[in-house]
Amino acid sequence: MKTRPLFDEAALAKRIKELGDQITADYAGEPVLVVSVLKGAFMFTADLIRQIKVPVEIDFIGLASYDGTQSTGQVRITSDLSTKIEGRNVLIVEDIVDTGKTLDFLRDMFNLRNPRSLKICALLSKPECHEMKSPVDYTGFEITREFVIGYGLDLDQRYRELPYIAQVLNLD
Ligand code: IMP
Repeated sequence: MKTRPLFDEAALAKRIKELGDQITADYAGEPVLVVSVLKGAFMFTADLIRQIKVPVEIDFIGLASYDGTQSTGQVRITSDLSTKIEGRNVLIVEDIVDTGKTLDFLRDMFNLRNPRSLKICALLSKPECHEMKSPVDYTGFEITREFVIGYGLDLDQRYRELPYIAQVLNLD
């Protein structure tokens, strides 16, 4: 497989600090329940919450939506939240928004549970591929249609452990 580095550790840390500052300012001292979407967002979430300076609680939701590098358009819950979100400020943390179908699914499901507020933070976003109903509130980096791995993101469950994000150039 051939890859090309896209965002190194320093670039990720710098942008995540900026996102944390923005989130801290927007929530203005109010507590927030951060919901990390597994598996892809686990590393991003760990770094992001260390840059958020309002009281944070953390929960996880497990979703599966991809097979290889192709969007199947179908989202499946592999493990649900352990917390009630009714009346809470909820910030969903995603690794990457491609078509946005995963986010639409999550947003609809979460809104049925009556949170006080619901916002989305995604590390990466592919605007050319978006098909979703409403925009993301916080985005780390916009990229084109390329498939990326590392920093939590996988290709068939591999490469999540890379500390940087790389573009997959070919699979040979
Ligand atoms: P969506 O529903 O089309 O927005 O797909 C979102 C999910 O697909 C993400 O949470 C990732 O798990 C996965 N995904 C989309 N693009 C990539 C990529 O470039 N690399 C790794 N996973 C991706």
